[in-house]
Amino acid sequence: MPTAISGFSKLSKSEKIEWLLDTYFTDKDAARTLVKKYWNSDEKLQKLHEEFIENTITNYYLPLGVAPNFLINDTLYAIPMAIEESSVVAAASKAAKFWLNRGGFKAEVISTEKIGQVHFTYDGEFSALKSFFETIKPKLISSTSDITKNMERRGGGIVNIELKDKSDDLDHYYQLHATFETLDAMGANFINSCLEQFADTLKSEAQRSLEGQLDVIMSILSNYVPNCLVRAEVSCPVSDLKSKDIRNPELFAKKFKQAVDIAQVEPYRAVTHNKGAMNGIDAVVLATGNDFRAVEAGVHAYAAKDGKYSSLTQCSVEDDTFKFWIEIPLALGTVGGLTSLHPLVKFSLEMLGKPSAKELMEIVAVAGLAQNFGAVKSLTTTGIQEGHMKMHLMNILNQLEATPKEKEHVIEHFKTNVVTHGAVVEIIENLRS
Ligand code: MEV
Repeated sequence: MPTAISGFSKLSKSEKIEWLLDTYFTDKDAARTLVKKYWNSDEKLQKLHEEFIENTITNYYLPLGVAPNFLINDTLYAIPMAIEESSVVAAASKAAKFWLNRGGFKAEVISTEKIGQVHFTYDGEFSALKSFFETIKPKLISSTSDITKNMERRGGGIVNIELKDKSDDLDHYYQLHATFETLDAMGANFINSCLEQFADTLKSEAQRSLEGQLDVIMSILSNYVPNCLVRAEVSCPVSDLKSKDIRNPELFAKKFKQAVDIAQVEPYRAVTHNKGAMNGIDAVVLATGNDFRAVEAGVHAYAAKDGKYSSLTQCSVEDDTFKFWIEIPLALGTVGGLTSLHPLVKFSLEMLGKPSAKELMEIVAVAGLAQNFGAVKSLTTTGIQEGHMKMHLMNILNQLEATPKEKEHVIEHFKTNVVTHGAVVEIIENLRS
């Protein structure tokens, strides 16, 4: 059994790798070669990536793909997507093309409020705490002036601070619940710095002028941002849905709506339905250097806001019009964080026309809607495996270490045959025998 190591972070990169090889690997040369193969030969670039996190030993690649032909609010975008799942970019591109000639996507930001909280306990009367809070509220705000001045100059800053009585949920538990406008920044550092200053001011003012014990537990932004909301939509006359894959548009619209309605009422389906939307959302969030964990956590909380986990998208078929839309909370940034640091993030943002945070919210919501449209369209027509396995074919061929010639032959064969793992193995074995 390996023994624990102390001071690992202080070792050099090579020392870390050698320790790992000695401790966990049997074929050390192969493992060392692999790790080094993924280093970038441009030393400056390599160092940049190493310094994003602690204990970096190498780089972990994901493909950066592009889904072109997205018409959003009458502007044409090519959307960058960082993702490993074979069929996602193809499905996004297909959905973009489908809607290109049917009016494209319409998107609008509904609200942009971010939230942070100081959680604390207090053992006195709420009425005393309330009047204390009203007295110190201007001080809470003025104490952050060094942190907020740049943001305020650009039109953002602290929107409000409220005192919340949570003592019915947990003994002696109260909050400062603060709202912020962070403009083009995701704003995590800004919000957390403001909150920690609120906490310091709250503590010192309580010591001076509040009877009873007040203890700050923690100060942190919330990744649940139900008032940082964006909506994206597609619509067209039902008859316009007719296409190569949709022979009977009325039947398609009916079944598609039924599938979305099922996701509205059935949490097991809703989770998978929403996962399909997140395929698009996460891929763009990642490509643009945003925090996909924050987005995931906030979006799923929003999907459960009415007390039951439900679909993020909705569909209506009324007056011969098919309408499909998504409404999601997204706290995104196009300045700060990785946006000016990671060269491929800069590249992705330039590809999107250097969007504001609001424009990026619209683009990401559209990517989610398009992906969900593609998945539900396949599910209610051909089934998902046909397209998925076609895209997965290359992964199977690479697993089998197929030569370029073998690949060419197999790809040709599966243009007219159903792809299964077994069928690919069989044809490769036949070719090789
Ligand atoms: C696979 O990554 C996503 C789907 O399962 C989504 C869905 O079922 O709607 C195809």
